[in-house]
Parts: sequence; C-alpha cells; structure tokens
Amino acid sequence: MIGVYDAAGDTFHPPAGGRLEGALAVPGDKSISHRALLMAALADGTSHIFGLSDGEDVASSAAAIEALGAEVHAPLGLRGEVTVNAGALRPAASAIHVGNSGTSIRLLAGLAAGQPFTTTLTGDASILRRPMNRVSRPLRQMGARIAGPYDADSAPLEIRGGSLEGIVYSPPVASAQVKGALLLAGLFASGETVVIESTPTRPHTEEMLAAFGADVRVEADRVSVRASAPAPFEFVVPGDPSSAAFWAVAAAVIPGSDVLLPGLYLGPARNGFIRVLQRMGARIEATSDGLLRCRYGDLRGVTVPAAEIPSLIDEIPILAVAAALGEGTTAFEGAGELRHKESDRLSTLRAALATLGADVEVTGDTLEVRGPARLRPASVSSAGDHRIAMAACVALLAADGHGGSIAGWRSVETSYPGFLSDLNALWKA
Ligand code: S3P
Repeated sequence: MIGVYDAAGDTFHPPAGGRLEGALAVPGDKSISHRALLMAALADGTSHIFGLSDGEDVASSAAAIEALGAEVHAPLGLRGEVTVNAGALRPAASAIHVGNSGTSIRLLAGLAAGQPFTTTLTGDASILRRPMNRVSRPLRQMGARIAGPYDADSAPLEIRGGSLEGIVYSPPVASAQVKGALLLAGLFASGETVVIESTPTRPHTEEMLAAFGADVRVEADRVSVRASAPAPFEFVVPGDPSSAAFWAVAAAVIPGSDVLLPGLYLGPARNGFIRVLQRMGARIEATSDGLLRCRYGDLRGVTVPAAEIPSLIDEIPILAVAAALGEGTTAFEGAGELRHKESDRLSTLRAALATLGADVEVTGDTLEVRGPARLRPASVSSAGDHRIAMAACVALLAADGHGGSIAGWRSVETSYPGFLSDLNALWKA
C-alpha cells in the first residue's frame, strides 16, 4: 500500500514524490444512491440497484429502510446488485440512527412525514449540530407533527406523519436535501406539492421520481409532485463526481499526472467544479457520456460567484487546494452554507490549509485563497469530516517533501472507503 495508515492512531501518512496516472472508475454517486434506496422502499415490489455508493452514509440509508420494513439483499456489498423488496412500510422498532449522514436524515424526514406512524431520526454528534428546521418547518406546514430540540431545529426528530396537504414552498436556502424531503412527502399529500428554487440545486429527486413513474413535473424553477408512488425499477448508479473531483485536482496539481475517470454523473447541477477548474486554466475535459480526463498544468485564481456555489458545494474543499497552488487569488463568494456541513467547513478548511502553509481568509461568507503557496508537510486534522481528510491528502501529495499526515482519517469511510486503494491504483512513485 502506498502511504502508511496507522490504525491505532487513525492517522494516514500519504506518500510524496510521485504522480497520478491511469484510468479509474470511482464508486457510485452518494446523492443518487440515497434516493435510489428510499424510492425502492416506496415502490410496491422488487427493485434492483447496481453500483451504489459503498460509504457509511448510504449504508445508513439502507439500514433505515430495513428498519421501516423493506427487505434489502446485498450479497456482493452495496457496489454489487442490491435487491430491495418493499410493500407498505411499518414503524421502526426504535430510533433510526443515520450516523454522519445529513442527506439520510433530511430525506428520511420527508419520507417519514408521509407515513401514518411515528418515526424518530437521530445521528452522530455532527448530525445533532446540523440545522433541521429547514426541513421540519415546511413539513410541519404540510401537516406533519415534528418534535425535537430547539423547536425541531436539531435532531433527534420525532416525526408523526400522515394526512399531509401539499404546499407551495420557496426554500430560503438552496438545498437539494430540502427539495428532496418535500417531494418525498408530497408523494403522500393531498393536492400538489410545489418547490420553487431561486438557485437550481441537484435535480436527482425529481429526475429519479419521474423516471420511476411517480407524478412529478418540472417547469423551469418549479418542481411539483402529486400523490403517487414510484414503480419497482432497475437502476445503475453513475459514478460520483464529488469523489472523482479529488483525483481530477490531484492530477491538475501534481506534475506529470494524467487521469481518466469514466462513468460519472456530470449534469450541470454537479459539474461546477469542472467549469471552475477550466477557468483556472486546468487541462480538464469532459465528454457527454461522463468521462473526465485531467492532466497537470499551471493554474490561476478565479472568482466563484454565489450563484455557482450549489453546483460545486461539496467540491469546495478540494477546489481550495487547487486554488492554493494556483497563481493569484481565488474567491468563493456566498459560501456560508459550508458552515452547516459535516464540519464547519469554512473554519476547518481554513485551519487545515493554513497548517499546510496556504494563505486563506474567511470574510463574511467569502472564502479567499491566495496562491501560489509552497505547501509544506504537516499534521492536519480532518475534524471528523471526510472531504477535509481527502482534500488534505491531495494537498500533502502535492506538498514539498515527505512527512505530513492526516489525523481522523477514518472519516473517509463516510463517502469513499476505497480512497486509499484507488490512490494506490493511480499513484506512480
Ligand atoms: C445533497 C445536497 C447538498 C450536498 C450534500 C448532498 C443531496 O446539501 O452538500 O452533500 O444529496 O441532496 P444541501 O441540500 O444541504 O445543499
């Protein structure tokens, strides 16, 4: 294995002095995987899903639908064929624990709101800190009764569902999790449930519900759903662009690198990181069938306006590494939502990059990275956040010299348990 993982100390020591080369199929998209499982649980019959994300977050969604009465068979693991057999859902025997998964708890809140029984949703310390009133408030407007700390702004959420009425809702924050929760609840509501978005967010819920036969309509910035159910389906999950982004940036910043990443979901609400890397001058090309190629080249700073943030929200940690190594200043404007992710990413990202010698400043909701930095090996904390851990790893791969490490490495299991074996496959010493 390339690099050394110290399991006792949960610390990874990345290699140095190499480059990345080769082709790699990253695991299935995490956002799409959650939705495939929840929709299979709502379909009356047997669905077959191939290539799910094998991270702990998606395993939490699988366990949640099992707790609610669906049968899940995954003899080859989540990346193999997964069969979900579902009928009417039933109350879970105890609270459903989603681990670290914000997408699980928010989408499940919508699903639970539609059920004629009580469901309690909880999670790890990070989940208990994350804002939940973005879903509990509109779900209450639809008629769900929701109890939880701070007037149901925090988990655990106790959701008494059933008898919902459709609403027209414009979420105050751009969030695909909120849109997804309301659309799932809308499958059980009388009348029409409408979500109007001022900034588009990832369209997976509406696209997948429509593909699986539910009554969904999309007109410009307006998504609506009426009471209906997805039919059982067969579905292949495309590769996760948010995981691929780590290799794309690693190739862009490490001299001599050239990587091919096939089979990715590259719709416009998820490919913002490619557009930003292109503006930075990276040698990155995408094809219409989801193949990404990225090679080493010089980078320069760019401005990323607020309207572009939802299309790259999860890629900001790794884009900030590219920005640190580029010439000039990169500003991510209107990035305040990063405070509400698995960690407060404005502060954990600034701390991690500053430890490595980068010049980073947070002013209001703007994250500014001034390059070019000469990154130096150092000990970095993941802050329990998978994307901070993997971004720090790429920064250390590109750093000047050996000796750096990432503490709290285990957090990568959240989304990308195969990260180290994929690094091993691409790394040329
Ligand atoms: C996700 C939406 C985004 C993203 C998260 C996954 C989803 O969160 O950051 O990792 O699958 O809907 P928000 O909905 O909070 O923007």
